[in-house]
Amino acid sequence: MQQPAPIGIFDSGYGGLTVLKEIVRRLPQYDYIYLGDNARAPYGNRSFDTVYHYTLECVKWFFNKGCSLVILACNTASAKALRTIQQNDLPKIAPDRRVLGVIRPTAEVIGTFSETGSVGVLATSGTVASESYPMEIGKFFPALKVYQEACPMWVPLAENNEHEGHGADYFIKKNLHTIFKKGEDIDVILLGCTHYPLLKEKIGEYLPIGVRLISQGEIVAESLADYLQRHPEIETRCSKNGHQEFYTTDSTDDFDHHAAVFYGQPVNSIHTDISHV
Ligand code: DGL
Repeated sequence: MQQPAPIGIFDSGYGGLTVLKEIVRRLPQYDYIYLGDNARAPYGNRSFDTVYHYTLECVKWFFNKGCSLVILACNTASAKALRTIQQNDLPKIAPDRRVLGVIRPTAEVIGTFSETGSVGVLATSGTVASESYPMEIGKFFPALKVYQEACPMWVPLAENNEHEGHGADYFIKKNLHTIFKKGEDIDVILLGCTHYPLLKEKIGEYLPIGVRLISQGEIVAESLADYLQRHPEIETRCSKNGHQEFYTTDSTDDFDHHAAVFYGQPVNSIHTDISHV
């Protein structure tokens, strides 16, 4: 029988911290291990194969730490790697462990926020190209119109602490203009990348009146709470001491400096080398 272990939370870099923050708020009793693959971030413009291989390596790293449940708190990894990992890899390497993503829980509820029946999804180029959001949303809200816009500059802006600078204004205005040209009656904008909540205030400044801005943290936290309740066989294997541990594949100084902005409180990270998994 496996020892109880923390829940793994994964992102290419810092973005998943915006999700972890909400998960810890909602489920403070559990232990969490966060891994940012900063040395290889961003994932957003990389090929399917590359994102899949990187993500699988990180998932195996969590399994070596004993985690029975891993959340890919990264839309790009959820879009490009999750299904293959769930269907092809898990049955072979860890049939009793689970890996979940952030796209499905978001797709399950996004339609409830819209009155016009039109939503806009802002995400990385990889997530947009995967068509995961239109496909998943279509399963729950078949009549909902889904417009997408790739915002490839937003992650670098957030990762480089430029989310409050003039560069951010320029790119936010540009991408919002394009998505509202595609769907004039959009009344909900989903931030389909876990880095984007950092730009939330600025995005809000340029949104037409009456448009709701939705980020995923609370949605994913609520969905995880529900999942744990429905899956006692996994829940009992999650340790409960209220601890969080942070790992990065790159410099810990850089991680701690930037992570505090995403997480909202000081972070003390540990360096890890996942290439030895
Ligand atoms: N945070 C990731 C997401 O939610 C993207 C960051 C990246 O491009 O690596 O899609």
